[in-house]
Amino acid sequence: MTRESADGDPPRGRDVATDGGVEDVALDPWGSAAVSDYRKLFEQFGIEEFEEILGDVPAPHYLMRRSVIFGHRDYRRVLDAMANDDPFAVLSGFMPTGDPHIGHKLVFDEIIWHQQQGGDAYGLIADLEAHSARGLSWSEIDEHARNYILSLLALGFDPEEGTLYRQSTNREVQDLAFELGIEANFSELEAIYDFDGETDVSHMQSVVTQMADILYPQLDEPKPTVIPVGPDQDPHVRLARDLAARVRYFGVTEAYASFGLDPDERPVLAEAYETLTERHPDDTIRCSDAGTYLENQREAGATDVTATTLDGLITMCNEAGKEPLRPRIRFIDRNATEAAFEGLIEAIDGEKRVYDEHIDAFELDHEEAEALAREVELEHDGYGFLPPSSIYHRFMTGLTGGKMSSSIPASHISLLDDPEDGYDKVKSATTGGRETAEEQRELGGKPDECPVYELYTYLLAGDDDEFAAEVYEECANGERLCGGCKEQAAELIEDFLEDHQEKREEWEEKLDELDISFDTGR
Ligand code: TRP
Ligand code: SF4
Repeated sequence: MTRESADGDPPRGRDVATDGGVEDVALDPWGSAAVSDYRKLFEQFGIEEFEEILGDVPAPHYLMRRSVIFGHRDYRRVLDAMANDDPFAVLSGFMPTGDPHIGHKLVFDEIIWHQQQGGDAYGLIADLEAHSARGLSWSEIDEHARNYILSLLALGFDPEEGTLYRQSTNREVQDLAFELGIEANFSELEAIYDFDGETDVSHMQSVVTQMADILYPQLDEPKPTVIPVGPDQDPHVRLARDLAARVRYFGVTEAYASFGLDPDERPVLAEAYETLTERHPDDTIRCSDAGTYLENQREAGATDVTATTLDGLITMCNEAGKEPLRPRIRFIDRNATEAAFEGLIEAIDGEKRVYDEHIDAFELDHEEAEALAREVELEHDGYGFLPPSSIYHRFMTGLTGGKMSSSIPASHISLLDDPEDGYDKVKSATTGGRETAEEQRELGGKPDECPVYELYTYLLAGDDDEFAAEVYEECANGERLCGGCKEQAAELIEDFLEDHQEKREEWEEKLDELDISFDTGR
């Protein structure tokens, strides 16, 4: 797995963004074809396809419509909050390692869009990470931090409604990072991030700080939170989701008897319970009955459950003997205080059974139980975190082909570039065009392999889907030639940069009014 990503760059050591090979050039402007490059992420890491939930997004952002945002984890939770006017949040962070460029603009736009949909919005400067993982000096960091914030504001972030902060000066984030660090150990960071004995401690601290960043919007009150990032940040998201669960006071699961079940055992026993209840609706079903039933299944070879799972389950059922088999909700004590445990016992209505480290409730469904556990946790000073959600955007291809990288100036357009330099960079960009104009007219260009086309869809076409479609079609059918196409794009980027930089200047004057400091004095 990757180390810290370059800001907005494809991850090193993994080839999610660069393995190209888009074969089927359908006449589809925001080509789902290009998303196939990312298929590995779905299969290997369990990232879900954004397309499947696109229909449920109210007035989706153009980056969503064009499949630039291609994946997510648990984003439905955020959509539900949006639909019900419940509180939700959006947060992302930026390592101030250089100038903000058009790759970062994607994330700025995602934060701003969620803010406009009513979310609590957070933008943070990952200065601790930049200092420890990238070795930048504090004066460099201060300067870059200021530039990121100015661009975020110039693109429409509302600082009155939202929150901007730096990791290094946010005491609450530091405290939360410390608490979360208690739940993560070195072996785990080693496995996730390839850390080893040479990794410095501050780098590890910057990881728990990012965990705290991700959960920070929930510090006052648990709420669905979306983290818009590149897929290289997914390991962080997964760890944050794990830690959010590990600091919870209670785990809520389903059980059938006094003994506990693994996730692979639960459905097997559930099936046994259901079959037996159907067969003997008036009898008490006992654990030993389930043991016998499963033994019979094993002998008849009538199950595809693994032998160890089945054997273990049979042993437990037989040992529990005459104990009745009854579905129940189990609250497991993970980190609860004694008072919280007592509080939960009292709060459970109806029949319940209390054990040393868990409580079984017989008259609650799973959802009610989750809500109750969170309520009691919050009453007793717990966090009650919801697992954070994420959305993932594709990386932009560099203007020179290859990857877009902060360290190769010609590959990207900085938001601080002189508009004329922006114009020139586009004019000298690599294209998906043919060798000669004649050939291009005959065969059409290859917009799916063209960084200039990407520029149109990711940025220049803005909200205008028709314009983006037009560029695609005209290119693919040979009406559009690269010279004119690049001229148009170059002019548009020049205009964009001029406008953006004007807005930056306006904000520059108001920057003192914000309560974020760009002089750490370190
Ligand atoms: N690690 C991120 C990067 O490399 C920056 C970051 C820090 C971040 N905290 C975050 C991103 C919280 C998203 C959410 O760019
Ligand atoms: Fe790219 Fe435009 Fe040339 Fe098509 S015409 S290959 S979109 S530069």
